[in-house]
Amino acid sequence: MEDHHWYKNAVFYEVSVKSFKDSNGDGIGDIRGLTSKLDYFVDLGINALWLLPFYPSPWKDDGYDVADYYGIHSDMGSMSDFDELIEEANKRGIKIIIDLVTNHTSDQHFWFQESRKDSSRDNPYADYYVWSDTDDKYNGVRVIFNDFEASNWTFDAVRKQYYWHRFFHHQPDLNFDNPKVHQEIFDILDFWLDKGIAGFRVDAIPYLYEREGTSCENLQETHQFLRKMREHVDERYGPNQKILLCESNMWQDDLLPYFGNKEVKEFDMGFDFPVMTRIYESLARENVSPLMSVMGEKHHLPDHCQWATFLRNHDELTLEKVTPEVREFMWKYYASDGVSKINLGVRKRLATLMENDQQKIKLLNSFLFALPGSPIIYYGQEIGMGTDLTLGDRNGVRTPMQWDRTTNAGFSDAEQSRLVFPVIDDDEYGYHVINVEDQKSDPNSLFNFIRKLIKLRKQYPFIGFSEYNVISFAEKKGIAIYHKYNGFELFCAFNFSSHTIEINKNLIGMEKSDEIRRVFDENTREIDQFVLDPYNFQWYYTESK
Ligand code: NOJ
Ligand code: CA
Repeated sequence: MEDHHWYKNAVFYEVSVKSFKDSNGDGIGDIRGLTSKLDYFVDLGINALWLLPFYPSPWKDDGYDVADYYGIHSDMGSMSDFDELIEEANKRGIKIIIDLVTNHTSDQHFWFQESRKDSSRDNPYADYYVWSDTDDKYNGVRVIFNDFEASNWTFDAVRKQYYWHRFFHHQPDLNFDNPKVHQEIFDILDFWLDKGIAGFRVDAIPYLYEREGTSCENLQETHQFLRKMREHVDERYGPNQKILLCESNMWQDDLLPYFGNKEVKEFDMGFDFPVMTRIYESLARENVSPLMSVMGEKHHLPDHCQWATFLRNHDELTLEKVTPEVREFMWKYYASDGVSKINLGVRKRLATLMENDQQKIKLLNSFLFALPGSPIIYYGQEIGMGTDLTLGDRNGVRTPMQWDRTTNAGFSDAEQSRLVFPVIDDDEYGYHVINVEDQKSDPNSLFNFIRKLIKLRKQYPFIGFSEYNVISFAEKKGIAIYHKYNGFELFCAFNFSSHTIEINKNLIGMEKSDEIRRVFDENTREIDQFVLDPYNFQWYYTESK
């Protein structure tokens, strides 16, 4: 028997506080701005928000360089603003999860400032980070941000030793061999959970431990710590009360252990990186084999767990976990402009990746909502926002939310030059053309399409916990996710190709095919014609009760 915890069938919304809504006219989005927009989420049907980091930070990695885990960046508000957000969200039945960065801190964090002072026993922070006299330990471990960093070691002139960092050099890795670091993490967890948040998106978890002769990724020691963290949370708040969502961008075999099993739990949710990447690959190839290869038996999770499915987020479209051949193919297809390639990925939003083809954008969104898992929408995805490739790093996908046609897209009253990032204002993706207000009143807009998808998820909640099969058809140009639950059947079919394809009616094993209802009415075909136009989709529903 499955258990139907809320997170197994929730629609999440990933939001960058600083880019969403500015309440005080300083050009930077803030918590009060976000609170003022809570009814927007109610209207859309969102169940939970995932807030990107808002901690005090030098802001060299979009806030993933945390300088103080117990505070709010002054540009984004105060702790009482945060408490108010939780209270107002609770009133509306919206849950909040926040980012927890465990692997590293900013080099500005007090712990690091202390740690670098001296290595003596008298310094309580001496062993909070991974220090070494040489930079040849853990040789051969890959550098993740390979466009920016040449090594995982950086020499610190103060302590006169090297420190280990898997990401930017200004983000020293914490030393998980030190039990004091575990306690620090647990204290941070308790602090925020006590405030009433529903859980955490836990950042970069495969890299917590280092061991010579290994890749320093997915180590047993890391899993042991994560179990300890799970136990800590469950003991304090009760099992399944608070969720932990794991960010582990790994091959499926390395990713699955992060869910643990029935007896030994780790995470409740994990991002479905394997499926996400293969959606784009399948589309580019007009062949769904890549998706089929990751969506088999193995893809099923323990009952209490759920995939967090997504199309895009605040980072690049990652191509880390595909073969070099596939990566080259994908770069050629999605990053031929030469500027959108970054590290091992592509720094573009969904609409830009689809070259603003509304049919393809709808296809992928409808696929997202049919997948087993709880979908996460990245802010702006619901209106098809574009990318500003003139901004550095991944900031092109982090521009201000486009609310309406007024100055600064309704994001802020500040002078344009003071905005956290410029508002997109080109002819194709600019706020005059793409904004919430216009789309709300247009029945054919992407916004209203996404709202419909969210409604469908509520109408067919069993998508989140059904027994499902994944079937390819029409020589792998089409893919279907077939959900069955207690007499309800939903056959969600997608054409990933530029050809018109037919679905063999026998594939839809639905017993009374004359009672099949089409969920999307856009397609005017007769009900007994199971045909999909290029890049089109249809969900077929029956119930035998
Ligand atoms: C993962 C986050 O998603 C990304 O934005 C960040 O740069 C890295 N962790 C390193 O902190
Ligand atoms: Ca502000």
